[in-house]
Amino acid sequence: MLRSLPASFLLLMLVAATAPAADTGKPTAFYATAFERRASPQELTELGRRLFSEPALSASGRVSCSACHDPAHAYGPPNALAVQLAGPDGKRPGVRAAPSLMYRQTTPPFSEHFFDNDGNDSADQGPTGGFAWDGRAASAHEQAEAPLLSPFEMANTDRRAVIARLSASPAAPAMRATFGAHVLDDPQRAWNGLVLALEVFQQSPADFSPFRSKYDAYLRGQAQLSPAEARGLSVFNDAGKGNCAACHPGAVKRGAFPLFTDMGFIALGVPRNPAIPANRDPRFTDQGLCGPLRTDLREHPEYCGLFKTPSLRNVATRSVFFHNGAMRSLEEAVRFYAQRDSRPGRFYPRDAQGRVRKYDDLPAAAHGNVNTEPPFGQKPGEPPALSERDIADVVAFLKTLTDQPAH
Ligand code: HEC
Ligand code: HEC
Repeated sequence: MLRSLPASFLLLMLVAATAPAADTGKPTAFYATAFERRASPQELTELGRRLFSEPALSASGRVSCSACHDPAHAYGPPNALAVQLAGPDGKRPGVRAAPSLMYRQTTPPFSEHFFDNDGNDSADQGPTGGFAWDGRAASAHEQAEAPLLSPFEMANTDRRAVIARLSASPAAPAMRATFGAHVLDDPQRAWNGLVLALEVFQQSPADFSPFRSKYDAYLRGQAQLSPAEARGLSVFNDAGKGNCAACHPGAVKRGAFPLFTDMGFIALGVPRNPAIPANRDPRFTDQGLCGPLRTDLREHPEYCGLFKTPSLRNVATRSVFFHNGAMRSLEEAVRFYAQRDSRPGRFYPRDAQGRVRKYDDLPAAAHGNVNTEPPFGQKPGEPPALSERDIADVVAFLKTLTDQPAH
């Protein structure tokens, strides 16, 4: 129940309940920050929107959050690059595909042992939740800190540097108007204000969770699916065929419209993407939950290769798919599910002897972690899980998950 309350509401309650304290010189804990001025959620949202597209916050002066999370692309990447370019000179490539930021507001904090409060309390669903492809950030505000300070992204050396840039930027007056005239004088407080505004903005329903797709209209009884879309939906739900809903559930649950993710972690064995410059080094393999970007679960070989199941809402607005952007069309992403096991040669390279190097982006020790349940599990040469027509129908259905602009 608590899980469905937007974190910002809890947060605002906490912020509002704290009386302004004397500045002790110690860093203020995020949740205990007292600002000179109490901003309304609407004001925080508008400030967050402003800061989200402020390139002056980056070391290069060129990269804002919206450079990688473009509002016109469901807050996902605006181009077909596998990884976005940023860093101190605006040219350094990252190592993962930028996800959409929509429908993230009910993401629970990461837990290794998740028990859904759903009449089935005893079932441990394993690693669940958290932000980023490996769940390593606990909240949207923690996740906002990472790009501001990451050398690959906005490339500031520390928080103080960000606040110095913010103070000199065209967004400074809006910061003062929202939090008080002196907010930028205390870098720690200013930092907390910055990430609070970004977090509250990212929970604005009109921007980040409008539920305005054709599929939502269909669920409300206000639209009909075309024959292809309806066939695609049934393949998507069919446990013996697509079985997509097992991880990307799409039914209304206790009144809540579906997000098309169970927030769990799964290894799919997505092929290595040679378009990522970091992959030129054969020693580098991104293994998700067990590292190397995430560091606290390194001693868990059973987690190697697992990545968080993303929401499929607005997935048709993307040009690259999966954590490493290895698939370059939605058709090919769905075909990967349909044919990974029956036609592996389509997706993976071959070794010197001509053998297909399946799961080539994972060390051999992690191959046993890769999921082999439907739609996977065929032997090479057997009929694929989904026909070409099924694939086209599933794609047609996935296109109904794209939010329509407000009229
Ligand atoms: C250079 C590109 C880039 C920039 C700039 C950038 N991001 Fe991201 N963002 C990413 C990538 C890549 C990921 C996935 C990171 C990972 O899995 O390790 C991500 C993940 C996230 C997530 C987690 C989403 C999820 O599904 O868990 C949030 C929230 C986020 N970014 C917010 C922001 C905010 C706020 C800013 C600006 C302060 C920002 N990002 C700037 C590329 C970028
Ligand atoms: C066993 C759980 C599971 C099942 C079943 C499953 N998925 Fe996924 N899906 C995932 C995970 C995990 C990822 C991310 C994996 C990665 O990037 O390494 C993902 C990623 C995707 C993506 C890429 C999204 C993006 O933002 O890049 C698409 C598209 C997708 N799934 C569609 C489907 C379809 C269609 C089906 C059914 C044919 C399906 N999935 C079945 C777990 C699952």
